[in-house]
Amino acid sequence: MIPEGIAYGGDYNPEQWPEEVWAEDVRLMREAGVNMVSVNIFAWALLEPSEGAYDFERLDRILALLHENGIAADLATPTAAPPAWFFRKHPDALPVDRDGRRLSYGSRQTFCPSSPAYRDAALRIARALGERYADHPALAMWHVHNEYGVPVSACYCDSCAAHFRRWLETTYGGVDGVNEAWGTAFWGQHYTSLEQIDPPRTAATVGNPGQALDYKRFADATMRENFVAERDILHRLSPGIPVTTNFMTALSQCDSVDYWAWGREVDIVTNDHYLITDGRRTHVNLAMAADLTRSVAGGAPWILLEHSTSGVNWQPRNPAKAPGQMARNSLAHVARGSEGAMFFQWRQSRRGAEKFHSAMVPHGGTDTRVWREVVELGASLDSLNTVRGTRTQADVAVLWDWHSWWAQNLDWRPSEDHDARERADAFYEALYDRHLTVDFAHPEADLSTYPLVVVPALYLMTEAAGRNLRQYVENGGTLVVSYFSGIVDEHDAVHPGAYPGALRDVLGLTVEEFSPLLPGQSVPVTGPDGSELTGDVWTEFVVPRGAETVWTYGDGLTAGHPAVTRNRHGAGTAWYVSTRLAAQGLDALLGWAAEDARLPARADLPRDVEVVRRNGEAGSYVFVVNHTASEAKVPLDAAGTELLTGERASGRLAVPAGAVRVVRLDG
Ligand code: GLA
Ligand code: ZN
Repeated sequence: MIPEGIAYGGDYNPEQWPEEVWAEDVRLMREAGVNMVSVNIFAWALLEPSEGAYDFERLDRILALLHENGIAADLATPTAAPPAWFFRKHPDALPVDRDGRRLSYGSRQTFCPSSPAYRDAALRIARALGERYADHPALAMWHVHNEYGVPVSACYCDSCAAHFRRWLETTYGGVDGVNEAWGTAFWGQHYTSLEQIDPPRTAATVGNPGQALDYKRFADATMRENFVAERDILHRLSPGIPVTTNFMTALSQCDSVDYWAWGREVDIVTNDHYLITDGRRTHVNLAMAADLTRSVAGGAPWILLEHSTSGVNWQPRNPAKAPGQMARNSLAHVARGSEGAMFFQWRQSRRGAEKFHSAMVPHGGTDTRVWREVVELGASLDSLNTVRGTRTQADVAVLWDWHSWWAQNLDWRPSEDHDARERADAFYEALYDRHLTVDFAHPEADLSTYPLVVVPALYLMTEAAGRNLRQYVENGGTLVVSYFSGIVDEHDAVHPGAYPGALRDVLGLTVEEFSPLLPGQSVPVTGPDGSELTGDVWTEFVVPRGAETVWTYGDGLTAGHPAVTRNRHGAGTAWYVSTRLAAQGLDALLGWAAEDARLPARADLPRDVEVVRRNGEAGSYVFVVNHTASEAKVPLDAAGTELLTGERASGRLAVPAGAVRVVRLDG
């Protein structure tokens, strides 16, 4: 069973250590309050040293030891790293890149997802594990594979080509459907049989965009097929034990997986998150990843299965975490719906590629800051047990769709400087700075509960999504749409008529032409109160057809044309922004929209102090995460008990610099 409190622990790889160390491991796990560990993720070669010959003895001992010590096992199927003997026997199960190069083994997560030999071998080992451990008392959860989608997001080999043709047959019912969807009349790409279709391998110049987009879908669906096949075996052998696979929803870390679809296949959503050192505020990216994870879980609680106690070792520069930062990170995930704070990994490796990656037990052992903080965090999490089952309360929805992102990143767009991910980050950050909690939503999802819906960049939008947004505004919602959204349908075909086809009614305008700017160029944009903002990267010739002009371009090709518009539609309002606004501009725009949506202004909260609520039958909890170097004072709606200190709290809660406070409100 998954531990009753907050899951605490990490990836545990005892196979890297002599057995004497194991006894110390479990003693230290108990000292730190560890209640669950992930095991067996990379153990295939040891479990099945030659084909069909299993050696479960080590894993038996590991699971027994964990169980004796009251530690639950998140037991992995090791199918992310097939053994060397397998590739010697099946060299064609190694993946091939777009240029036709076959990759080597000896790393990890390198295999062709369509390979029949891989699929058979993976299902055999999953079945063998299921048969052996289905009833094991330590078994809490199955962890299928590891981080589908990285580092190989698609394979271009002949097995994949054949598999792609089958996928096309199922999706389009034959070659005519494919020709139509991809617009193969252009550039003479017409096919007369599915047999003629290959993966979008490297060609002389740009290939067919519909083909490239469908290959992304196919690659994602193929990985999901593999997951589902393992999952079904485990469900059959151990009914009631949840099956998961660890996601990586942080957008930069994995872009090839449609987590909306995956969220529906797992029994519980789990996620891995690492801080990205790119000069931006790491806690904002963390909050965004956590919100996206909760959203793909449909709002239900999820488990943070990996993060780091301190530095990672796979970026060009890997700073250590500051004192207190690890707990702040862990608890920020909990605020946003996680019911676990787990790490990669338990004990820092001496050998191998990740020996400089931090761990719960560092090379320096227990007389270290990291270890002391690990023990402290265990105690803190223990005091939060009752938040289990409560749900994070969001203020606004941001629309996100992996398919649109894939489509927008295809070649030959109006500007390569426009980046959907950048806009999603920027809008998220602007909402974060207004202290609004964000749910992400699929463009066709029910939006009726949100007073404000933001569309940062959704180039691909189905007709159904367009209708959904129209209805949302008609019924009184407030919508904010950023440029180059609603342009193409699911096949990357431009919606008929003027841009933006899926949205022009609700926005009350058309866009006659895009006019992207050159690097370094910007344009002034004048607001209704005379305020001046700047846009860069993108401008447009917007023609209002019912919408009022709120901001106007002050210079450049589009001078005098609307930059920001507002349209009353039904009982609601739709805003449109046709240029790339920086933080100040986004804040001004969202200020207006938030007024239309009657959202609370939380101006009394300092920047970089997060206030997030989780509510449920178990009570109402306010999480305050202070990322600043000074004490913050945060007004509470009601009196309550602060769970980490055990103190009573009311009025204005003082949160020390860098600290977290969790108040359970009375009542
Ligand atoms: C990923 C993997 C882990 C480990 C960590 C290091 O999340 O799942 O095995 O490599 O990264 O940060
Ligand atoms: Zn392949």
